[in-house]
Amino acid sequence: MIPGLILVVDDQKRQRETLAQVLEQWGHEVRQAEDGQAALAMVKGEPVDLILTDLRMPGLSGVELLEKCRELRPDIAVIVMTAFGTIEGAVEAMRKGALDFLTKPIDLDQLEVVVQRALDMGRLLKENRTLRRRLEETTAGFRLLGGSESMRALLSRAARAAETDATVLIRGESGTGKELLARSLHDLSPRAEGPFVAVNCAALPETLLESELFGHVKGAFTGADRNRPGRVPQAAGGTLFLDEIGDISGAVQVKLLRFLQEREYTPVGSDAVLMADVRVVVATHRDLELMVSKEIFREDLFYRMNVVNLQLPPLRDRRDDIPELVAHFLDRYAKRYQRPARAFSAEAMACLMTHDFRGNVRELENIIEQTVVMATNRIVHTADLPSSLTGEQKSDTGDLPTYDMVQGDLSRWLETLEKKIILETLAVFSGNQSSAARHLGMTESGLRYKLGKWKDEDPAGSQLSAK
Ligand SMILES: Nc1ncnc2c1ncn2[C@@H]1O[C@H](COP(=O)(O)OP(=O)(O)OP(=O)(O)O)[C@@H](O)[C@H]1O
Ligand SMILES: [Mg+2]
Repeated sequence: MIPGLILVVDDQKRQRETLAQVLEQWGHEVRQAEDGQAALAMVKGEPVDLILTDLRMPGLSGVELLEKCRELRPDIAVIVMTAFGTIEGAVEAMRKGALDFLTKPIDLDQLEVVVQRALDMGRLLKENRTLRRRLEETTAGFRLLGGSESMRALLSRAARAAETDATVLIRGESGTGKELLARSLHDLSPRAEGPFVAVNCAALPETLLESELFGHVKGAFTGADRNRPGRVPQAAGGTLFLDEIGDISGAVQVKLLRFLQEREYTPVGSDAVLMADVRVVVATHRDLELMVSKEIFREDLFYRMNVVNLQLPPLRDRRDDIPELVAHFLDRYAKRYQRPARAFSAEAMACLMTHDFRGNVRELENIIEQTVVMATNRIVHTADLPSSLTGEQKSDTGDLPTYDMVQGDLSRWLETLEKKIILETLAVFSGNQSSAARHLGMTESGLRYKLGKWKDEDPAGSQLSAK
């Protein structure tokens, strides 16, 4: 049993002392007060965790004490005690914020359970508050959370890089916060008042990417019916974030190199040489060194980009960050959806601490969001977590067909298996198709094609709806 500082309030001396004795035997520290007024004075002077109060007392009643405490120290749990037959008082007290009630004569087993639950909950709420405060202190300015050693080291390097115009290369697995870090670099930089322009280089085919970045003039290609400035001039005075930089073609690599070297560029179809004052941040999940060694990625461009290298560690390598992130997302989604969840039980937290998080912070965030929406109590228990976390792992082979089931229809079975794996992967990556495609080693368009096909075959299959 976790010991706490408990205040027993009752005008009947014998009852009060007996109760105090029992609680002391259980290892708690106990204070006694004979009425509400005296109790209130103690609450002001001592770090009381829990109040056990009688309802009917001369002077300040139990309910009045409860109300005053809610104003003064809302973190103190209050349990009211009521004589048999006066249950209405207890109901009123519960409505005003009492955590629980006990009927007299008090059953010791019940007392033990109720007291322990109250102290556990108080501890969880306190931990939650401490975490939230620490997170506000340590990450002032940065929207990226993480008190772990590796994240602190990274964030302090990032803060130094932010002060300069140096090109930054951000790397890390999917969902580790690369885009968030890029935004933070901008927000902490002297360019914070300027624009932040993000371009996903993997989303556009080669020809379009060049014009997206540098713009084009009227008639440069079919469909270019007017001049269009690119994202580079849009980012002037601010930061240009090039995401998925490992996915750009050789031709665009050359243009980008020139821009990084000279800050000069030329719109597609023009021969004007333009300049833009832009700070560049790039990100990729790819192994650029390997791509350089295979000559898929230009070495000179790699060195140009790699002035400051920030590597975001996967969440499973910095598990100390999990409680802080959980507190943050819990708070955010409970507010957004106006749900009661305020803390995770120790077991539920243990579940989160040991999960693998292949989808990193994005997966964690998604799990907390789902859980907060569904949970009906202040404390989230293991049972409230999605089954993927609570060890209800489906056996790997359970769904695999055996030779006798195949019956001349192997391709259909293979497709079933493929569909199952793809949908699972999408779920892990919270519906993010590019991350899922990457994880599976297939192209995003290939993935989309398959989803589209299955959707046509099974229009009711809600899981297939694209995000
Ligand atoms: N350290 C962090 N603190 C708070 N939120 C975070 C942190 N890291 C990531 N997130 C959140 O997780 C989600 C994924 O982050 P982000 O989009 O930056 O990842 P990414 O590395 O760019 O992923 P991908 O490679 O799939 O594009 C976002 O909602 C982001 O706000
Ligand atoms: Mg990203």
